[in-house]
Amino acid sequence: MCAMTQDNDKPDLSQRYTSKGKILLIILSLSVLTIALVYQPLPENFPQPWKYRFLSFGAHLFSKLGYLGEQVNLFDRIHVLRFLYYTFVGCFKIRNPEHHLQIYDRKILNVSVRIFEPEELANVDQMPTIIHFHGGGFLLGCRDTYDQVTYALANLTRALVISVEYRRVPEHYFPAAFDDCKLVAYELFQNALKYRIDVNRIALAGDSAGGNLALVITQSLIRDGFNPRTACLIYPALQFFDFTLPSYRLYLPRNILGVINEENFLSVMSELSESKVKVTRDILFNNHTSAEDKRRLRPYVNAGKHLPISLPFDTDAEGNENLVKNLNFLISPKMSPLLVSDEELMQLPPIILFTTEFDILRDEGFILAERLKSLNKTLYHHHFPATFHGAHLLLYGPLKFDIAYEMVEHISRKIRENL
Ligand SMILES: *[C@@H]1O[C@H](CO)[C@@H](O)[C@H](O)[C@H]1NC(C)=O
Ligand SMILES: *[C@@H]1O[C@H](CO)[C@@H](O)[C@H](O)[C@H]1NC(C)=O
Ligand SMILES: *[C@@H]1O[C@H](CO)[C@@H](O)[C@H](O)[C@H]1NC(C)=O
Ligand SMILES: *[C@@H]1O[C@H](CO)[C@@H](O)[C@H](O)[C@H]1NC(C)=O
Repeated sequence: MCAMTQDNDKPDLSQRYTSKGKILLIILSLSVLTIALVYQPLPENFPQPWKYRFLSFGAHLFSKLGYLGEQVNLFDRIHVLRFLYYTFVGCFKIRNPEHHLQIYDRKILNVSVRIFEPEELANVDQMPTIIHFHGGGFLLGCRDTYDQVTYALANLTRALVISVEYRRVPEHYFPAAFDDCKLVAYELFQNALKYRIDVNRIALAGDSAGGNLALVITQSLIRDGFNPRTACLIYPALQFFDFTLPSYRLYLPRNILGVINEENFLSVMSELSESKVKVTRDILFNNHTSAEDKRRLRPYVNAGKHLPISLPFDTDAEGNENLVKNLNFLISPKMSPLLVSDEELMQLPPIILFTTEFDILRDEGFILAERLKSLNKTLYHHHFPATFHGAHLLLYGPLKFDIAYEMVEHISRKIRENL
């Protein structure tokens, strides 16, 4: 019996061995192929380069699939992107009683917010407060996706954090986001007592599109006689006027995070406009602005004056009429808070500014910093030299980057010092 089984097993074993070998070979080839596809050269000091490469590759793949799916009317790309953003970045809801935070959702007037209240403030009548606007290019992101960041912000600053769920494109066009953020901010300033908020200790904060909103709302508050204590701008989008800034030229082709590339940039510019004008590559040569706009606004975003390197800028170049007409809102100071005079910048409270190297928005941050410095304004500017746009969101889960928590700690420390 024993011998028979052994005899029967022998050919079986070798067969299994060869099929195992084949599988191994296939796995090996697939791995090599994957690595070849995923590989991209990165600078030496880049944090967790392989994780970044896989993340970029995955995001790029989803973005391409999104376009494909939309082409065949399978789904709406924006909704898929929102879902993925939430699933991979935002769904890690941290709730640790040891951090002593009370967290609740409510409405301020008709705008939804999430509130993070440190428990030790329960009996405080005048709480230091951070009004937080999330990023996501005015299309993506929400208080849920940003839950982990706003949580850490409240935990580390021990201030009241109010995360604003403003309306997004494409359901609601410009200036819906601005209107919602303004409504909340004005209500909190006007009725601070009712909310137990210290009106002299309110900070506005946000990243990317949220940094844009934080600065635009700060400027609006100041014009109306309110006094925000500080604005914390994390790789903010500050201008839609000059897309020839070196950081655009350098990093748009680098496909940061697998999604910040030319195709998506043009698509976002088109999505932002209610007219859904087809935005062409022309915009990368500033053909969305007329010669008159260029002459009027150039002093406010002047790469030649404020950056170590710049491309030639022709103030006589006329734009593409269709883009000029449909994208006019982009260069209003409500969308481009850098497009204001020095007199207006002079009125700003102390600004806390964070920029990252791998970011198309790097240079507008530096231009704001240079303009504020030349006005002798109080400014804290920290440049993260070895990280990328959006990194501070990647706090938990499989996409966790160690640098993210360091960034959030740094941001929190600076807000706490200035609030
Ligand atoms: C809130 O109310 C204002 C003014 O009544 C209105 O313009 C705005 O659309 C409303 N916002 C939301 C989110 O419903
Ligand atoms: C919360 O704050 C405590 C004390 O500062 C810190 O040890 C902890 O890491 C923080 N956790 C988060 C998620 O911010
Ligand atoms: C866009 O701008 C570039 C550079 O100024 C110019 O060469 C080109 O003709 C413009 N295109 C249109 C359609 O205006
Ligand atoms: C900023 O300070 C410098 C040195 O004190 C001074 O020369 C300059 O005029 C100041 N600039 C402004 C705009 O106040």
